[in-house]
Amino acid sequence: MGSKALSFFGMGYVGLTSAVCFASRGFRVVCFDVDARKAELIASGRAPFYEPLVEELLKKALESKLLAVARDPAEAVEASDVTFITVGTPGNPDGSINLEQVEMASAQVGEALRDKDEYHLVVLRSTVVPGTTENVVKPIVEVRSGKRCGEGWGLCFNPEFLREGSAVEDTFNPDRIVIGACDKRSSDLLESLYREFYAEKMPPILRTTPVNAELIKYANNAFLAMKVSFINMIANLCQKIPGADVEAVAKGIGLDKRIGPLFLRAGAGWGGSCFRKDIEALLDFALKRGVDMPLLEATLKVNNAQPYRVVGMARELVGELRGRRVAVLGLAFKPNTDDMRDAVSIKVVKRLLEEGARVVVYDPRAMENAKKMFGSSVEYASSVEECLRGSECAIIVTEWDEFRRLRPEDFLRLMKEPVVVDGRRIYDAELFSSKLKFAAIGLGKTK
Ligand SMILES: NC(=O)c1ccc[n+]([C@@H]2O[C@H](COP(=O)([O-])OP(=O)(O)OC[C@H]3O[C@@H](n4cnc5c(N)ncnc54)[C@H](O)[C@@H]3O)[C@@H](O)[C@H]2O)c1
Repeated sequence: MGSKALSFFGMGYVGLTSAVCFASRGFRVVCFDVDARKAELIASGRAPFYEPLVEELLKKALESKLLAVARDPAEAVEASDVTFITVGTPGNPDGSINLEQVEMASAQVGEALRDKDEYHLVVLRSTVVPGTTENVVKPIVEVRSGKRCGEGWGLCFNPEFLREGSAVEDTFNPDRIVIGACDKRSSDLLESLYREFYAEKMPPILRTTPVNAELIKYANNAFLAMKVSFINMIANLCQKIPGADVEAVAKGIGLDKRIGPLFLRAGAGWGGSCFRKDIEALLDFALKRGVDMPLLEATLKVNNAQPYRVVGMARELVGELRGRRVAVLGLAFKPNTDDMRDAVSIKVVKRLLEEGARVVVYDPRAMENAKKMFGSSVEYASSVEECLRGSECAIIVTEWDEFRRLRPEDFLRLMKEPVVVDGRRIYDAELFSSKLKFAAIGLGKTK
């Protein structure tokens, strides 16, 4: 049994994944979410989203009685020694960060701490702009609890780096742990908790100030997004050079140790709940302090245009898209998730509809979310075969393994016109080009 009991405020991708991972290693965890429907679902052993292993670990945690769902915030704080705040930090329409959920969770934790005698550690894991831990969370908890930070309770900012699609795997094997603590006692306590959790597989740990930890998270996401936008920019150039292929270029530069091979896969652009809103929040934060961030602006500019490029490639192969049946393969923002927040597919589908195409979509996991998003404007296929059957163009938007396995013969057999746009570079370009009408991101025309 873990020596500390933990509570989690916010049962989204981050909160639920962390909670079930801690429970799987013997820690008692208490979950709280303001969304009663979500809390009910979790209490019944069902994850409110698809993420490999999460539901299995949740069921085991409930069976072993290591995981409980609290009815109110006070119950969660009372039953734990450490509270992780894992609520959402969406963007406002102007790009600035919306801290309402963080403020509310801080107030709830603070209220609960008023009546608690034992020392309690509060750990903010949501991504927040520099200064939030010390200038927003700390004063709210102090006022609500009537206790100064460091006297009865401690506070850390501990950024989360997990990737959806491999969230459990990432939680068990992070590259590093960053702790931005308000004082030494808090930092020591959080480090000892992680030492207990990771035992002999303890990752490197970086102890720093809260602002540095907050900046590390933003700089990290911004850099990754910039790397992808960079290779997409090179991919766009490759398409104009006969014989050029971004795959070869990426491989060549990725072998340089100073660059590295990861996040150099050209495609239809990045999506997801984090990159855009974090870059926009950082840009807004910097602008308000008179600092220009042209690299971030360019990162967004390249990415905003990328989904439309695949539609343009389809138009080039097919001609007028009006009235054509176009199959969109992949809707989730990446494989192994059902998350469609800021997914590339949204822009692709909307543009296809604007151009008058008849759109049929398929995704192994995201169909429910897609139905909420697209309503009756598209046709929903229940398999990849059904999606391709009778289509006049297929666009690969998400690189699910199920799509990787398709051979040129499958497209030839099922489609009315075998035309494929590989928006994720999952196919052997030479083979596909020799058998059907084919275009791929970053592939220069051969004839
Ligand atoms: N999703 C990712 O891959 C990822 C990775 C790293 C960091 N992050 C960051 O982690 C944070 C959470 O992300 P997410 O994707 O899990 O968000 P999410 O939107 O999936 O989940 C947030 C949850 O918090 C709940 N909530 C809101 N206010 C609450 C309150 N006062 N008390 C209890 N619950 C409350 C919401 O109902 C929701 O269920 C964000 O700041 C995000 O930027 C996300």
